[in-house]
Amino acid sequence: MADRNAEIRNAIAMDWVEARYYSDAEGWLGTFWAPNSKFLPFFRELDLTRVIELACGHGRHAEQILDQVGEITLVDFEPRNIAACRERFASQDKVKYIVNAGNDLPGCEDGGYSALFCYDAMVHFELLDVIEYLRQTHRVLRPGGRALLHVSNNRQNPGGFYHQNTHWRNFGSLDVFLHVADRLGFGILGSRTLDWPQAPELDGLLLLERKLS
Ligand SMILES: C[S@@+](CC[C@H](N)C(=O)[O-])C[C@H]1O[C@@H](n2cnc3c(N)ncnc32)[C@H](O)[C@@H]1O
Repeated sequence: MADRNAEIRNAIAMDWVEARYYSDAEGWLGTFWAPNSKFLPFFRELDLTRVIELACGHGRHAEQILDQVGEITLVDFEPRNIAACRERFASQDKVKYIVNAGNDLPGCEDGGYSALFCYDAMVHFELLDVIEYLRQTHRVLRPGGRALLHVSNNRQNPGGFYHQNTHWRNFGSLDVFLHVADRLGFGILGSRTLDWPQAPELDGLLLLERKLS
């Protein structure tokens, strides 16, 4: 039987191949990095000694923090995005690169990282993939390591395809992700919903910590 989740994952990834998004997105950094950003207080809680950015695209977020990190590993499902990052950060030894299979962190050693973050990407992912990424994130973080995840909180249209939804938010639930994170062994350091115009609480942010034992 065909793997429906994988089919949809591949379809989602194809939406983000086109270069136009990436050049436009370089101009939309304020949401994440402006002094009044709702993301920044959470981001400041991360230890950037050895960090993973999941679904990095063309590296617009990595560029913002390059001078603060000890090492950063950029992970994306789309090889062309990792190629673009290799070119962008060619002079930087502290940037590492991984093309993944859409729900894993291959080559990332167990307990090896101080932080992982993912912005403007998981909001589109399939629920099962987000849950698998939570499991993988728990695996690769060292005890006390933290994850900051920007997720969908769109409870509309279960079973539908994300193109049908406001801002292409896939079906998701901040509460479900918080519950799964707890069961996987994370402590919840913080969470909040994020509003869009005409779409209150459409997104969610989670700050998680791998428990010490
Ligand atoms: C909207 S772009 C955001 C890129 C980047 N986070 C940013 O904010 O500029 C979505 C990214 O997710 C990647 N992607 C899509 N599906 C993925 C999956 N299942 N696992 C990992 N990356 C995926 C795409 O290749 C693309 O780089």
